[in-house]
Amino acid sequence: MDFSMFMAGRVSFGPGVSAKAGELVKAAGAGSALIVTDETMERLGVADRIADQVRKAGIEVAVFAKVEPEPSVETTDAAAALARERKVEAVIGLGGGSSMDVAKAVSVLVTNEGSAANYQGLGLVKNPGVPKIMIPTTAGTGSEVTFTAVLIRKSDGVKGGINSDYLYPDMSLLDPELTVSMPPHVTASTGMDALAHALEAYTSLKASPFSDMFAEEAMLRIGRWLRVATFSGKNIEARREMMLAALFGGVALANAGVTACHALAYPLGGMFGVPHGTANALLLPHVARWNAPASPERFADAASLLGYPQEEDEPDHVAAGFCAEALGDLVEDLGLPATLGDLDVGITKDRLDEMAEKAMGVAKPMENNPRIMTKMDCVTIYREAM
Ligand SMILES: [Fe+2]
Repeated sequence: MDFSMFMAGRVSFGPGVSAKAGELVKAAGAGSALIVTDETMERLGVADRIADQVRKAGIEVAVFAKVEPEPSVETTDAAAALARERKVEAVIGLGGGSSMDVAKAVSVLVTNEGSAANYQGLGLVKNPGVPKIMIPTTAGTGSEVTFTAVLIRKSDGVKGGINSDYLYPDMSLLDPELTVSMPPHVTASTGMDALAHALEAYTSLKASPFSDMFAEEAMLRIGRWLRVATFSGKNIEARREMMLAALFGGVALANAGVTACHALAYPLGGMFGVPHGTANALLLPHVARWNAPASPERFADAASLLGYPQEEDEPDHVAAGFCAEALGDLVEDLGLPATLGDLDVGITKDRLDEMAEKAMGVAKPMENNPRIMTKMDCVTIYREAM
């Protein structure tokens, strides 16, 4: 066994901790900052509240509130243009994974020339960025502790990650109170994204004792709290546990990677605009069922962690089957779309080949998958999900 451990910078956790943003920007030695966020955070007044707190620390603040749900290279370039024009010395990502991913990319675009598209790939960023501080308002993506920013190129609908150690956030402020206003369907789909990170990292060929520890803790919490957080949104204990689960899922993902479910979910976002968490939730039971025979012990353990314990004399290959069942039950209980047809975005059988082609192009997650997957297998899984 050999592995390396990676961690983002400082993580502060707790109700109200987001009020520390200004203090942290100042401590990082920056005199100006750009807040990268979306319209919802602007409308809810959260962006203004954080901006005011940062200004009170004597920092000049600009706000870019145009991040779309599935962020594009074009939007990132527009945010970077504003950051360069204002010569900002720090970037704050406020929102879900989309806003945080764009913020992380902008941080390195301040110090690296050209478009975000130039850096989509692995290790292409040459210079470290300006300090970046993440303030998530959802519990799911784990972007607050990962080295990736996933952006869609509008020109060809391909989702590609900027993957670089320079994208690790310097600081993250995890404030469960900020997630209380999340509507049920967002809580559910982002929570399922966190579960996908944990389960995929746990069953990844790159899994290590370090990533396992985080993946297990994430699955345990999600099995126990995601339904409560979704349907009893004001329950701060459920929000806290889900925010922890997302953090742990993010650390697991940053260390062990994701697998075929994320690869298969990418074309749903890139070609049809399906939200990342929704796409992963829909595909996760199918991919788990397909992968289980390659790693029965892991999937049996995952089923137990999700609340479907293995009977004493039950063989692993039988218990492993309950993982897909646990995931299917979650999707159903949460009221998320369970089939590609339910998505109602016009996915027809004649598009599956193109989707499979694009999924196979998401190389790293496919390489990590416990069971070797071919393009035909991708089509089979999509067909099962129809
Ligand atoms: Fe994800």
